[in-house]
Amino acid sequence: MRDLKTRILNTDVMEEDYRVENTLRPKLLCDYVGQQKTKENLKVYIDAAKQRKEALDHVLFYGPPGLGKTTLAGIIANEMDVNLKITSGPAIEKPGELAAILNNLQEGDLLFIDEIHRLNRQVEEVLYPAMEDFALDIVIGKGASAKSIRLDLPKFTLVGATTRAGALSAPLRDRFGVVHHLEFYTVEELKEIIIRSAGVFKIGIDEEGALELARRSRGTPRLANRLLKRVRDFAQIKFDGDITKEVADYALNLLEVDKFGLDNIDREILSTMMEKFDGGPVGLDTLAAAIGEDSGTLEEVYEPYLIKNGLIQRTPRGRIITDLGRNHISTCEKYSG
Ligand SMILES: Nc1ncnc2c1ncn2[C@@H]1O[C@H](COP(=O)(O)OP(=O)(O)OP(=O)(O)O)[C@@H](O)[C@H]1O
Ligand SMILES: [Mg+2]
Repeated sequence: MRDLKTRILNTDVMEEDYRVENTLRPKLLCDYVGQQKTKENLKVYIDAAKQRKEALDHVLFYGPPGLGKTTLAGIIANEMDVNLKITSGPAIEKPGELAAILNNLQEGDLLFIDEIHRLNRQVEEVLYPAMEDFALDIVIGKGASAKSIRLDLPKFTLVGATTRAGALSAPLRDRFGVVHHLEFYTVEELKEIIIRSAGVFKIGIDEEGALELARRSRGTPRLANRLLKRVRDFAQIKFDGDITKEVADYALNLLEVDKFGLDNIDREILSTMMEKFDGGPVGLDTLAAAIGEDSGTLEEVYEPYLIKNGLIQRTPRGRIITDLGRNHISTCEKYSG
């Protein structure tokens, strides 16, 4: 397996992101760029819940990494003016641990469970009555004398986030009143995010420079922010400090991020499809094996962006490369000799 950690376009949080992500996270809905539909709907639900002085309905966000799910959870807590408790699917191993977390919540609190698809079955079952009836069912004793008692919980809001909506069980998914799919960002939206982040870091950047970075950020704010920081270093050492189109081009070419925002792994997927499978159709598992990647990662980390940009297509018989994909790969090969 290749080393995803060093991939600059890896959309997962990397070490270098941790330090800056919290500073960069917008705190209020009005500062959150893009995702217009999600924002408009959330605003209505938030205002209505506040008017009724009730907790907000449970919310599920799903979509590829780095598009702003965690950020939105924080924004909802701020807008509702409630406490935010953060945990994640893999962090909760036993039903009792989740019961304890729920039991410590206060009226109106927001519980954020990241990677919620990774909750195990027993833990998940604690959530059902909690989400539906704000109750905990606790079994006391064993065997024939076992009794189940019900404890009331405060009215809280669960916000779940997942990159893999398909991996979520139906009973869990059905208990969310609000479900939003986060979309890749447009170039204009990314440009706005980049200019905002540059302001926070006091990095000089012009419109064209921001646009070039935006084009190559894979529709993903986390990458936009990461590339911005990397390119700043080049601007400082190799140029006179500010990020222009020339600087962005120079640095991103060195970092092997191309005009579509594809990196060498994306290009390898395309060229493998061309060379080994004659452009497809090729099944997901076969393609994954050919590039030495697991099929879940291929499907949920790499593929969505390639599909969104019309470079590959999903068909009932497998994945095929499009004309655009073919052209892109043949120009890349021409340049690389
Ligand atoms: N709409 C937005 N406007 C401005 N910045 C954003 C927006 N969405 C995300 N960001 C920035 O991108 C970074 C990553 O966002 P976030 O951590 O919320 O993504 P995520 O969807 O939770 O990712 P993961 O699936 O890996 O948990 C944040 O630090 C934030 O600064
Ligand atoms: Mg997150």
